[in-house]
Amino acid sequence: MSVISVVGGQWGDEGKGKVVDLLSEKADIVARFNGGNNAGHTVINSMGNFKFHLIPVGILRQNCIALIGNGVVVNPDAFAAEIATLHESDVDTSNLIISEKAHLIMPYHIKLDELEERRRSEIGEAIGTTGMGIGPVYMDKTSRIGLRMIDLLDKNTLFHKLEVVLKQKNDVISKLYGGDPIDLGYSYERCLVWAEELADYIKPIEPVLHEALSSGKKIMLEGAQGAMLDLDHGTYPYVTSSSPSVGGACTGLGISPRDIVGVAGVFKAYTTRVGSGPFPTELSDEAGATLASRGQEFGSTTGRPRRCGWFDAVMVQRACLINGVSSLCLTKLDVLDGFDEIKICTGYEEDGTHVEGFPDMGRLSFCRPIYEVLPGWQTATAGIKTHSALPQPAKDYIARLENLTGCSVDLISTGPDRVHTIVRNSPYS
Ligand code: GDP
Ligand code: IMO
Ligand code: MG
Repeated sequence: MSVISVVGGQWGDEGKGKVVDLLSEKADIVARFNGGNNAGHTVINSMGNFKFHLIPVGILRQNCIALIGNGVVVNPDAFAAEIATLHESDVDTSNLIISEKAHLIMPYHIKLDELEERRRSEIGEAIGTTGMGIGPVYMDKTSRIGLRMIDLLDKNTLFHKLEVVLKQKNDVISKLYGGDPIDLGYSYERCLVWAEELADYIKPIEPVLHEALSSGKKIMLEGAQGAMLDLDHGTYPYVTSSSPSVGGACTGLGISPRDIVGVAGVFKAYTTRVGSGPFPTELSDEAGATLASRGQEFGSTTGRPRRCGWFDAVMVQRACLINGVSSLCLTKLDVLDGFDEIKICTGYEEDGTHVEGFPDMGRLSFCRPIYEVLPGWQTATAGIKTHSALPQPAKDYIARLENLTGCSVDLISTGPDRVHTIVRNSPYS
């Protein structure tokens, strides 16, 4: 039994793609369990430079099954485009499986995402979604009116299901938002094209996973987004609509928590966030601009600039608790090279009063960070591959993070390429 889950511990974009790419060397299956093409996972290795939105990063490993779980929401056009890009790089996709229970992102979900964001922005409450239809598709899933991959395969019932749901959606689009309705014939035609393109990939995933579990195969679970974007545990309502934390891996794939033996939490050595919502350690000064430019902090999916700030140990403690993080993977250490001093948020205060723990989002917006200041380092860590070669202040910074989070930093990333990594403890060793 060897299931390791890789999850994001902040507001997404922590470098999960890089970590999964590295750690999946020994994996037999890499499985995505949540989110959709709102995710953008970057991988840079000897095979090239890749951006994954839906397809698990393990597709790059020969003989590794790349599995898209029932918890994932699939935009078939985005999926087909990603496959085409992989084929251009000669990546074989014959080991790719999509759960028949995964929900379909339809054109009306994307439209509703846009209309709802526009409505919210008029009252100053836009979430800053990626515009990929994520909220609306998960709404339909919980309302039990969603279309699933399996529906594409049954042409006898597909038209009727689509007709019923589209009537309701078009009422909402036109009567509530004043938007243009979506044509039934066009939507049905798209579904027929998708059925043709995707049929070979759509399968029940349970037998694949359970057979792998019973024969002791190694499975890696690839989370999208991060703990603070979790629908339940994040900074609601400025979150995504799925469960990026480890609990989402169980429901999003149909595996038992008892099968998961390790949780690798991926954290940047500082903090970033895309979209709206509270961010106590956000920097609007030169240090923030330096993090943004050195870290090339632009969204992998939308290209939007990411907000940047110091490492927030209070938030990370919460992320470690809800995920049961057993290994901390610290990325982008090299981005901190050259700072005279580096700050870590070790607590919050509100109006001069210390705030206990990690408060709910309403209070978090008013919290000010309490910082501990550590000396920076002036020598480059970029590309370093052994812990001993790190400058002493960088070692001290990492040790302090371990101390504050109660978690060992088992992997340190010092650059975007697979080889720019210090592996102190491998989760499958
Ligand atoms: P993900 O969504 O968690 O997979 O992260 P993204 O791919 O959206 O964003 C992480 C970005 O940081 C990508 O551009 C990576 O290539 C880059 N990256 C990852 N690790 C490192 C690192 O250690 N150093 C630097 N400089 N860049 C890194
Ligand atoms: P990866 O997997 C960073 C953010 C959006 C927005 C909020 C809701 O690459 O880490 P949504 O479109 O999901 O309804 O948007 O969530 N968001 C992400 N931010 N990385 C991601 O994925 C994200 N996926 C969604 O910016 O604030
Ligand atoms: Mg990303």
